[in-house]
Amino acid sequence: MASFLWILCFFCYFFVFASNGAAAYRRVFRFPESQETSSIASNQYRTAYHFQPPKNWMNDPNGPMYYNGIYHLFYQYNPNSAVWGNITWGHSISTDLINWTPQDPAIHPSKSFDINGCWSGSATIRRGSEPAILYTGIDAENRQVQNVAIPKNLSDPFLREWSTPDYNPLMEPVDGLDPSQFRDPMTAWHGSDGHWRVAVGAQIAGNGTAVLYKSSDFVHWVRAASPLHTSKGSGMWECPDFYPVPSKGRQGLDTSENSKDVKRVLKMSLSETQSDHYMLGKYDIEKDIFVPDETVDDYRVWLRYDYGKFYASKTFFDEEKKRRISWAWLNESDTEADALLKGWAGIQAAPRTIWLDSNGRQLVQWPVKELESLRRNGAHLQNTELKTGGLFEIKGVKASQADVEVDFELPSLERAEPLDPSWLMDPPKLCREEDASVQGGLGPFGLLILASHNLEEHTAVFFRVYKAHNGYMVLLCSDQRRSSLRPEVDKPAYGSFVDMNIEKEGRISLRTLIDHSVVESFAGGGRTCITARVYPEVLVTGDIHLYAFNNGTETIKIPKLQAWDMAKPWINV
Ligand SMILES: *[C@@H]1O[C@H](CO)[C@@H](O)[C@H](O)[C@H]1NC(C)=O
Ligand SMILES: *[C@@H]1O[C@H](CO)[C@@H](O)[C@H](O)[C@H]1NC(C)=O
Ligand SMILES: *[C@@H]1O[C@H](CO)[C@@H](O)[C@H](O)[C@H]1NC(C)=O
Ligand SMILES: *[C@@H]1O[C@H](CO)[C@@H](O)[C@H](O)[C@H]1NC(C)=O
Ligand SMILES: *[C@@H]1O[C@H](CO)[C@@H](O)[C@H](O)[C@H]1NC(C)=O
Repeated sequence: MASFLWILCFFCYFFVFASNGAAAYRRVFRFPESQETSSIASNQYRTAYHFQPPKNWMNDPNGPMYYNGIYHLFYQYNPNSAVWGNITWGHSISTDLINWTPQDPAIHPSKSFDINGCWSGSATIRRGSEPAILYTGIDAENRQVQNVAIPKNLSDPFLREWSTPDYNPLMEPVDGLDPSQFRDPMTAWHGSDGHWRVAVGAQIAGNGTAVLYKSSDFVHWVRAASPLHTSKGSGMWECPDFYPVPSKGRQGLDTSENSKDVKRVLKMSLSETQSDHYMLGKYDIEKDIFVPDETVDDYRVWLRYDYGKFYASKTFFDEEKKRRISWAWLNESDTEADALLKGWAGIQAAPRTIWLDSNGRQLVQWPVKELESLRRNGAHLQNTELKTGGLFEIKGVKASQADVEVDFELPSLERAEPLDPSWLMDPPKLCREEDASVQGGLGPFGLLILASHNLEEHTAVFFRVYKAHNGYMVLLCSDQRRSSLRPEVDKPAYGSFVDMNIEKEGRISLRTLIDHSVVESFAGGGRTCITARVYPEVLVTGDIHLYAFNNGTETIKIPKLQAWDMAKPWINV
């Protein structure tokens, strides 16, 4: 236990150090001879309070779990390079989800059943037994097979070493399963018959499928006659996730919980579009199938956790605080050549608590409470007005590393413009066409993030309110098209409607986490989320500003705005 205490003390020390701001302003130019490469390699694109390995490539979060007082996060990791390849399971531990200590890779290619790669998977806490990880191995014949890994030494509080027993693989791509489309086992759950169940992502004849297996001993697994769920033509389902949420309240539940007033979430990561989607429904324990609430079998109507860059997410049940938490991979939006210059690629989204909205129609997500412990001095405004064309700078906050919460109050909905129903099909297109520079009635209003003083560079996160035939619709946009002067980076505009009753609520909240190259926005208390990766040149020059703006003809009130500097925690240093 001694080393554990030492780590805790190190955290204390680091907080004192980090809060004076010295650590955050390192700027390392690895290529001083060229202006362009030096800006790319600048540490200013590296995040301060988002999870990253010390260097190299990271993608999917794997096997997140809480066990004996410790949070574990494993992740898809290339130990040799900043591009994808040679995939092992990186491993870090934490006591607070904010500060992380790196460990040696937990699972790496070692035997014929995973010699060509250790791909994604999940952890299952087996009560009265040790935790187990199910993961995809790429075997000697380059087939995707499912394996188990178990801790070598349960007395080690950090579970540093894992063994992959010789009885692997547990599941093989036979009986109509494509060996190249069969991966990412989820967390297993216990049925009322005492047997384990787990589903694995697959594509069978073009249809996305969660193939179901059962086992009494976690070693011998038998494929069920029916999949947990399948959907026509949605392509390969990666990283499926299946978990209960209570119909009321924000508590999380153990994955095996299946009482009457519980809904089930089935999430799948669509490989074709690189986006995470979910359905709400019930779990039929007799037939062992998922029964969606929505009867239209069309992936285009499935909901999304996040309408920006957010993929391969995975949740776990935090038994200590009785909540369900999600992790997700945020890929880069710049080139592989830049990743090699920077020496790293891939970050994790801030961990989010996830629960069912009181309307029962969708999930709500909010950054874990612990993140607020990083908040330092900042700007606090009350009762400000934003008139037409209004732009004011939010001063007194470190604009590259902040947490901003703002409420926009709409004194009247009269000037809301009419909504063309065809726009409902493509909100990102609407965000591109009616962007922050296009004057409207009720909006656009919102924030200009990571902006240069002349606004040549900025990321606009904003709302517009429209009048539809049956009520008002609130659009949230995150427009990266002017986020960077660098031509080679991907600069999309993202958008989605927020499921809320603006007539009744009268105001819209926005929380945005700004951390160098990432902007995570939560609208309407976390009902709609959009995450973006951005690489503005202002991060390197240091001329960084944060503004609130209104380009609608209706005046908008800001009853409350709070913006905090965020301290830099100890993440895998
Ligand atoms: C994978 O590892 C091998 C052997 O160490 C190395 O030659 C190769 O460049 C690596 N590939 C990547 C993409 O990291
Ligand atoms: C297991 O871990 C404990 C605690 O770290 C340690 O004291 C013990 O030596 C370990 N046992 C083995 C076999 O490594
Ligand atoms: C998907 O499943 C349906 C039956 O539900 C089947 O008719 C179809 O051929 C499958 N493949 C595609 C690409 O839709
Ligand atoms: C991740 O980003 C890189 C760089 O922008 C891109 O080349 C790659 O296709 C992306 N990968 C996925 C799986 O989205
Ligand atoms: C607001 O609209 C005006 C006129 O269209 C435009 O010049 C200005 O750039 C807009 N503001 C923002 C933040 O886009």
